[in-house]
Amino acid sequence: MVLSETDNYKKMAAESAVNTYIEDGMTVGLGTGSTAAYAIKRLGERVSEEELALTCVSTSEQSTALGKSCGLKVVPFEDVGRIDVTIDGADEINLLLQLIKGLGGALLREKIIAAATDFEVIIADRSKFVDELGFTVPLPVEVLRFGHEHTGLALKKLGCSPKLRMNGNDVFVTDGGNYIYDCKFEGIEKPYFLESGINNIPGVIENGLFLNLASVALIADGNGVETFKVP
Ligand code: A5P
Repeated sequence: MVLSETDNYKKMAAESAVNTYIEDGMTVGLGTGSTAAYAIKRLGERVSEEELALTCVSTSEQSTALGKSCGLKVVPFEDVGRIDVTIDGADEINLLLQLIKGLGGALLREKIIAAATDFEVIIADRSKFVDELGFTVPLPVEVLRFGHEHTGLALKKLGCSPKLRMNGNDVFVTDGGNYIYDCKFEGIEKPYFLESGINNIPGVIENGLFLNLASVALIADGNGVETFKVP
C-alpha cells in the first residue's frame, strides 16, 4: 500500500522512536491514534525479530486490540508499577513540549499512563508542531455524563466554544464511559492558568492539556526525523 506523505512522516517518527528508545525487558506504554499505531506495529516486529521480552500497557481498547494482534503482551495497567517508556501521538505540540491530546478520545487513560511513565516519547508529523497551542485544534475535555450540559456552559465561560463530541447520531462515549466537549479557543496563551480553570469546574474529569509530561518529541518531515527536548 502506498502511504500518503503525512502517513509516511508518522511512520518515520514512530519507527525511529521504537528503534531508539525500546530495549529488552522494558515495560512499554502504547499510545492511541494513527501515529501511535505505526509504533505498535514496529514494536510487534521487533518483538518477533529480536525476541524482545516486553510488557505493554495500553491507553485505549483500540490500541490493546492492535497490540495483541501484533503479538505484544498487553497486560492490565494495575499489573505493572512504573512504565519505562510510553510512545504516543499528539494533536498539537509546542517548543516547550506542551501538548494538546485527545482528538482520538483517549486523553484520560493517556494522561494516567503518561504520569506513570519515566520517559514519554511523543511522535508526530511536522503539521502538529505549533507556535502557540489551541489555534488549529479544539481542546478536548472529558466530563461526567451527569449534568454535562452545565459543565459545557461552565467551560464556555472560560472563553471557548465547547461542542459535545458526537459519533454519527450518537454522543461519543469514551473508554471510561464519559462524554467529551471539544473546546475551541483562539489560542491558549496561558496553558497552566487555563488548565486550573478547567479542572476547577465540577463534572470535569480530565483535560487534554499535557503540560509537563513529554520527555522528547520526534517530529518527522521531508528532511527526516528531528528530536526535540524540553529546553
Ligand atoms: C488520542 O486520544 C490522541 O491523544 C492522539 O494521540 C492524537 O489524536 C493523535 O492522533 P493521530 O496520530 O491519529 O494524529
